[in-house]
Formats: sequence, C-alpha cells, structure tokens
Amino acid sequence: MASDPALHYNIGRVRQFGACTLSRVGVPMPTSDTKLVIRLLGVDDVPAYIAHCEVQNSESGTLGELPFGPYSRNAPWDPDDMRLKTIRRWTTHLDQPGWRRTWGLLDGSTIVGAVSLSGGDLFASLHRADVGIGIDRVARGKGWGRRLMQVAIAWAKAEPTVAWLHLGVFDGNRAEHLYRELGFIETGRTEDCYRVDGHVIDNIEMVLRVGATDFGPRQL
Ligand SMILES: CC(C)(COP(=O)(O)OP(=O)(O)OC[C@H]1O[C@@H](n2cnc3c(N)ncnc32)[C@H](O)[C@@H]1OP(=O)(O)O)[C@@H](O)C(=O)NCCC(=O)NCCS
Repeated sequence: MASDPALHYNIGRVRQFGACTLSRVGVPMPTSDTKLVIRLLGVDDVPAYIAHCEVQNSESGTLGELPFGPYSRNAPWDPDDMRLKTIRRWTTHLDQPGWRRTWGLLDGSTIVGAVSLSGGDLFASLHRADVGIGIDRVARGKGWGRRLMQVAIAWAKAEPTVAWLHLGVFDGNRAEHLYRELGFIETGRTEDCYRVDGHVIDNIEMVLRVGATDFGPRQL
C-alpha cells in the first residue's frame, strides 16, 4: 500500500516525495504567479487554512456570482470547532472513516487556494472520496484550480485504497467545465437541491474512477 505522499510542486522545478510523478499529472505548470507553491497541508498549517476558509466564506455569492457552497453568508461560523475538526480529519488514517487530505496553494505562508479529498464516513465507503476546491479570488483564472485538481487526482490514483472521487457542483458554476475536462462524468442532477440566500440551486453530481473497483467477489 502506498504511503500517504507529501507532494511539493514548484514552478519550473518539481520536488517530490511519494508516489506521484509529474508525467502522470501531465500538463504544463501555470506560467504566472511563479512564487506560488502547492503542497500537502499538515497540522502546522491549520491557522492559515482556517484563514483561507474565512476568505472563501466571505467571497461566496458576492460580486454578482452564485454562491459556490451550501452555506448562507449569515450562517454561524466557529473557527475553533473547524480547527479541531480539521486536525482530527487530517490526522485520521486512510483506513478509518472521516479521513481528509488537503493540498494548499501557498503564497508564502498565506493559503490562497486548497483542494480536499474527504473519505467516507462509513467503513463501507472508505474507497470513495469527496472533492472540495476553492481558490481565493486573487488567484483564480490562472490555471491553479486545474493544477490543484490534478495533484489531488494523481495522489488518489497512487493510493490503492481510493477507487472513486465524487463531487457536487452547482448548476451555473464554470467549474463544471473544468471537472468534465479532467474526466469527471455526470451521474445525476438534483433539482432545487439547496436554497442559499435567495438562490434556488440545482446540484450536479459527478464521479471520476481513479482505481480498481473490484474488491473481490461480490456478495449480495
Ligand atoms: C472553480 C475554481 C476552482 C477554478 O480554479 P481557477 O484557478 O480559477 O481555474 P483555472 O484557471 O485553473 O481554469 C480552469 C477552468 O476553471 C474554470 N474557471 C476559470 N475561472 C473560473 C472562475 N472564476 N470561476 C469558476 N470557474 C472558473 C474554467 O472552466 C476554466 O477552464 P477554461 O479556462 O478552459 O475555461 C476557482 O475559480 C474557484 O475556486 N472558484 C470559487 C469556488 C468554487 O466555485 N469552487 C468549486 C465548487 S464545486
């Protein structure tokens, strides 16, 4: 079983630890913002990660854009609770329910984007991971979202326990196009799935197969 690789990508130069290779990821690095770095986040990064989540919350549904998360702008926000949950999930082993791994896009010590893979909440669903991604407005539209997704997908492909990635994207979010380009396929739509701050939102569910689906003889 592959160990949990810590990935560290930099522009024009790639330092790697673990099982993922750049050729597997397979596309050029973004050409702007050359000081930004993508790497797996650890417990020491939690304060910067919480700060990034606060930025995401403050940007969702503003400047004429649809909300990109199923939370009201007025929903209560408890950073302490989130800090504890994040530490617990990041340190949960992959063979236990509730694991999460998050890769950050860092500008120095500031996290300006992140992608998370979150394992199932049941032992029976540990082979499936939910994808969540958010880039702060300052760093969007420069190729970093695609790059973060590719890093997470490469990690999942190298991790034998993970067989499927799945996600939900709100109808009307341009991210849907990105996910399709990366190989995600639509499995369904849920009409009127969320009601957020006056928006009635249809959700598009998508999956990407990243590993073997056969676990052994099927038993019904
Ligand atoms: C969606 C998101 C992750 C894309 O990352 P990005 O760095 O802005 O995108 P990239 O520059 O890598 O471009 C990749 C694709 O993303 C999409 N994209 C680009 N800018 C985008 C924007 N402002 N909003 C949404 N999608 C965008 C486009 O489809 C683009 O492909 P194209 O250039 O072929 O049209 C990022 O814009 C973001 O975090 N938006 C807010 C949060 C969000 O919507 N998260 C997804 C929830 S499912």
